[in-house]
Amino acid sequence: MCGIFGYVGKREDAGEVVLRGLRKLEYRGYDSWGIACFSGNKLEVKKEVGKIGNATVNFSPSSLGFGQTRWATHGGVTRANAHPHFDCQSKVAVVHNGIVENYQKLKTGFKKKHVLRSQTDTEIIVHLIEEMSLTGKDFKEAVRKAFLKLDGLNAFVALDTRSRTLVAVKNGSPLVAGMGKNENFVASDAAGIVDYTRDILFLEDYDLLSIEGDKITLYDVRSGKEKRLKHQKVDWQIEPESLGKFKHFLMKEVYEQPRVIRRIAHESGYEVVHLANLIKKSFGTYLVGCGTASYACLAGTYLFSEISKRHLNFVIGSEFNYLEDFITPRSLVIGVSQSGETADIIESLTKAKKKGAQLSCLVNVIGSTLYRLVDFKVLIGAGQERAVISTKAFIGQISLLLFTSYALANRLAEGRRVLQKTARAMETILSKDSQSHIRVLARKLWRHDHIYIIGRGISYSAALEGALKIKEASYIHAEGFAAGELKHGVIALVEKGTPCIVIAPPDKTLGAVLAAAMEVKARGGLIIGLSDKNNEIFDHFVKVPEAGLGSLMLNVAVLQTLSYYLTLDRKHDPDKPRNLAKSVTVK
Ligand code: M6R
Repeated sequence: MCGIFGYVGKREDAGEVVLRGLRKLEYRGYDSWGIACFSGNKLEVKKEVGKIGNATVNFSPSSLGFGQTRWATHGGVTRANAHPHFDCQSKVAVVHNGIVENYQKLKTGFKKKHVLRSQTDTEIIVHLIEEMSLTGKDFKEAVRKAFLKLDGLNAFVALDTRSRTLVAVKNGSPLVAGMGKNENFVASDAAGIVDYTRDILFLEDYDLLSIEGDKITLYDVRSGKEKRLKHQKVDWQIEPESLGKFKHFLMKEVYEQPRVIRRIAHESGYEVVHLANLIKKSFGTYLVGCGTASYACLAGTYLFSEISKRHLNFVIGSEFNYLEDFITPRSLVIGVSQSGETADIIESLTKAKKKGAQLSCLVNVIGSTLYRLVDFKVLIGAGQERAVISTKAFIGQISLLLFTSYALANRLAEGRRVLQKTARAMETILSKDSQSHIRVLARKLWRHDHIYIIGRGISYSAALEGALKIKEASYIHAEGFAAGELKHGVIALVEKGTPCIVIAPPDKTLGAVLAAAMEVKARGGLIIGLSDKNNEIFDHFVKVPEAGLGSLMLNVAVLQTLSYYLTLDRKHDPDKPRNLAKSVTVK
């Protein structure tokens, strides 16, 4: 979601520095963007709707500026609503990530007193700061008082032209500061900052950071008292942003999946054994995730049941709130997340922490809020996902859950073998032959408005994840179902030619899933079978090698690539689907 990038220093090209920073944050998903730079004695502004693309900026020399990529929440996608927003005299500007829940109430009083130029909740923040400044407070103090009047989870940066200061403050959404030589940075994540400095400060909730030239001061926003700056040197490698032989990051990342599985098989032994021990000692383990990660959690419940005979609870992040009464100090809560910034996950784990539960996570982004929040973290190590749609992180999450289940059953070596076999089998699926077959299938399906996907057992989660991939990228309505549920309602939707993808691995679900497929076929449905062997029920067949419990990942890989081809046929951008954000930092 919204990405913030700010610069204060000695360079004279603040506008370009900010534009480069925003490009690094593009992966978060956005629909408009804007930059403001202080030059001479005024703020120069550029705002655009749509993607940054090849845009350039042409500001006068400036050494103080900031910008934002906006994912609309309050107010449509327009230039007027793009950030930054300004006070009445254009002396103060604000960029923001979050939602001001009481903005309507605050706005009522402002309508007569201030010049309101947008429909956003953000604009209220800058006028609040203006009001606080009028009472003679210094800028930092004005920002602090304004922040305390906001309800909701908010992170924002305010730029003051009079004192030439940037003030960053947050609760909820992430903010990171970078301390360079004679220059300082603030951003939504470290990705854009590490090109300039590796001296990083992760802001905690209720931190307020004031950056005035070289001088950086940290405060507790509630008390106004100064805090010690706890910055750290980060040594992460940021992967180069190259597509290589691929046209899109989505497909590049799918092709990296065998490597992700192998890395986990070879390098994650210690982590999964430790996590298995935590699960063993806990009285109630909860897997918490959203979207794709929630399907990984669901799959986890099947894996732990079958492999380690252990019941794990699965909760969607946004529903945890209503189930948290069960949490006790003996509970273990495992957040599963690619970004480590999903607001619903952070909130869930923060609540569990307050109840004394032990926290762990499977997370892909080192240094993220979730990574820093938990007691024991397991890095997925899938490498940065640049496509908005999650693929390789999901495969990494499943690999780790499968490996942990085997560790819990004291069968680690067997788990490693299953992962290795799965990685090999996935290469077969990604081979030219298999892909050209899936490409042809997409050509037969892309004009359909609805696609159903059915599976049983662990393949139920593959059906859900496959359907989400098709929806997100191609905008075809796709639904995943537990095959046994069809006859309880969904079958009413089946008519002649309705495509139904049947996930039919050679396991204990085979007979029952084929029976469900027969019921669809009897009503004219078009059956696409994903299995190790063809079957007379199938109108189309995609061969998926047998890989035991790893077959879930193989079926998902077929559906990921099918989704990609459907998206190309429907002429959409597979890397930047409409309306979606990579990091969902609002609730
Ligand atoms: O970063 P997270 O894994 O916590 O994100 C969770 C979901 O927002 C994410 O998986 C979402 O469903 C993606 N659009 C999936 O492609």
